[in-house]
Amino acid sequence: MQGRLENKVCYVTGAASGIGLACAQRFTNESATVIGSDLHPNPDWNNLINGENAFFELDVRDEKAQQSVTSEIIDRFGRIDTIVTSAGVAGGGPVHSIDLENWQHVQDVNLTGTMLSIKAVLPTMMEQRSGSIVTIASIEGIEGCEGGSTYNASKGGVILLTKNLANDYGRLGIRANAICPGFIKTPMFEATVTLMGERAEKIKEQHKLGRWGEADEIAGAAFFLASDDSSFITGVALPVDGGYTAGHWYGLTTLMGLE
Ligand SMILES: NC(=O)c1ccc[n+]([C@@H]2O[C@H](COP(=O)([O-])OP(=O)(O)OC[C@H]3O[C@@H](n4cnc5c(N)ncnc54)[C@H](O)[C@@H]3O)[C@@H](O)[C@H]2O)c1
Repeated sequence: MQGRLENKVCYVTGAASGIGLACAQRFTNESATVIGSDLHPNPDWNNLINGENAFFELDVRDEKAQQSVTSEIIDRFGRIDTIVTSAGVAGGGPVHSIDLENWQHVQDVNLTGTMLSIKAVLPTMMEQRSGSIVTIASIEGIEGCEGGSTYNASKGGVILLTKNLANDYGRLGIRANAICPGFIKTPMFEATVTLMGERAEKIKEQHKLGRWGEADEIAGAAFFLASDDSSFITGVALPVDGGYTAGHWYGLTTLMGLE
């Protein structure tokens, strides 16, 4: 069956796992050609991704590697219509306890790595005079949360970087939007929730739909932003968070008889 991304070439970083992998799967299911990259190869990549695809081992902090992967994509597939920047790492703690090396690592991967990934594909998109840039930020880039300073600073940076891209490249037909996921069931989430222990339940409650998110729910938003259905949307930080950022939930409506 013909998908909605037919003839589009979509490049996903952090594509070996979690949200990036779900985006790659959704894009091929919509008939796109999908290129993935990640620090570590996913040995199952070809089984997990149905259609025409390619995978590169890449550290998003390595500018030269970014440029050479982009050149290879252009040589093999001729264009890049969408980039999704999903490569990322967790990290945090209250500021007085921050380890500078960890702080630097998180900023380097999450913020600088995102910028370098986009920098590498921009000349192609500028030449095409079209493209959709989708960054994976976080609800924690929109609002603060306990103990999250390192990660939150990096994701706040990703959101503003995305808005600046929308400002700078809109007239060239290039759109840029950030997705801000709530807590999504992926390997990164498993590690974070294990650290939180029973306190994780309180975080789950703040998702007003009363559950954690699934990676393919983020992929659905990425698909929308990659597709022409979002052709007049740029510069947006879109929460896909089950209502986490809609307000605070204390259970008062239960007292008021709303079960
Ligand atoms: N899972 C969540 O609850 C959640 C919430 C908000 C935002 N996010 C963001 O979504 C993105 C994907 O996270 P996920 O939950 O799928 O986690 P994940 O750990 O499953 O996937 C992240 C991927 O990034 C790759 N990566 C890490 N460092 C890299 C580097 N230097 N170069 C290249 N690749 C690198 C990892 O190898 C991994 O495959 C991240 O940017 C994360 O911050 C996740």
